Amino acid sequence: MSEATPAPSTGRSVLITGGNRGIGLAIAKAFLANGDKVAVTYRSESELPDGVLGVQADVTDQASVDAAFTAVEAAHGPVEVLVANAGITKDTLLMRMSEDDFTSVIDTNLTGAFRVIKRASKGMIRLRKGRVVLISSVSGLYGAPGQVNYSASKAGMVGIARSLTRELGSRGITANVVAPGFITTDMTAELPAETQKQYLASVPAARFGSADEVAKVVRWISSDEAGYISGAVIPVDGGLGMGH
Ligand SMILES: NC(=O)c1ccc[n+]([C@@H]2O[C@H](COP(=O)([O-])OP(=O)(O)OC[C@H]3O[C@@H](n4cnc5c(N)ncnc54)[C@H](OP(=O)(O)O)[C@@H]3O)[C@@H](O)[C@H]2O)c1
Repeated sequence: MSEATPAPSTGRSVLITGGNRGIGLAIAKAFLANGDKVAVTYRSESELPDGVLGVQADVTDQASVDAAFTAVEAAHGPVEVLVANAGITKDTLLMRMSEDDFTSVIDTNLTGAFRVIKRASKGMIRLRKGRVVLISSVSGLYGAPGQVNYSASKAGMVGIARSLTRELGSRGITANVVAPGFITTDMTAELPAETQKQYLASVPAARFGSADEVAKVVRWISSDEAGYISGAVIPVDGGLGMGH
């Protein structure tokens, strides 16, 4: 095999939280195309592509996370690639943001990631290999008005990835953050047309991204080719947040 030939990294047990729609579903399809064994968590009943194992889980509930992992491990073996993707927004200006608006977004996006990563790490330590990918956002490091809660949750993911890298890096485990910009999904479709227009004007690429463009980066950062990258923040944002 020549040095430039990509080493295949197929047949791994991959779990994506919130993989029933949007970016998570695109990530599931990308790993499936790679020949991996793919499982996704969902809350609401949804149609999944053939070959994807769906397990019900709410990332705000540790017992439901544990049950989902047990089901995935029974079907596919210990999770070797974990993508913490499940996330919500509750946008509003700080003056109107209730404590519940803040804590519920942190509980889902950040503590939810902590719950699944902690559970997955046990198997990865035993395997002496693993890939953790946290789906953050350009808002995490760039900031966005109306997103004090969301930005805090997404910035916190960088701290998780970097501390995890220092704790578990010597066990063959990497932890990286992928920070999408404005990607066309249900989440962004909810934004008022005027806000969408303003975002578009600020994106150097002059277009929104697709879930597929995020998925391919997640797949690559989880591949053998990216085995020496850990604690990185990889933007997929058309240049919106560069330097942040
Ligand atoms: N779209 C963008 O422009 C963009 C930009 C930057 C970052 N992101 C991030 O990318 C990730 C996916 O976003 P998306 O645009 O694909 O969003 P989406 O279409 O709204 O999908 C969100 C996913 O998260 C799941 N989820 C929400 N709360 C959950 C909980 N408590 N437990 C388990 N699953 C839960 C949802 O499950 P249900 O179907 O059951 O609700 C759904 O599968 C999020 O973390 C988001 O913050 C998105």
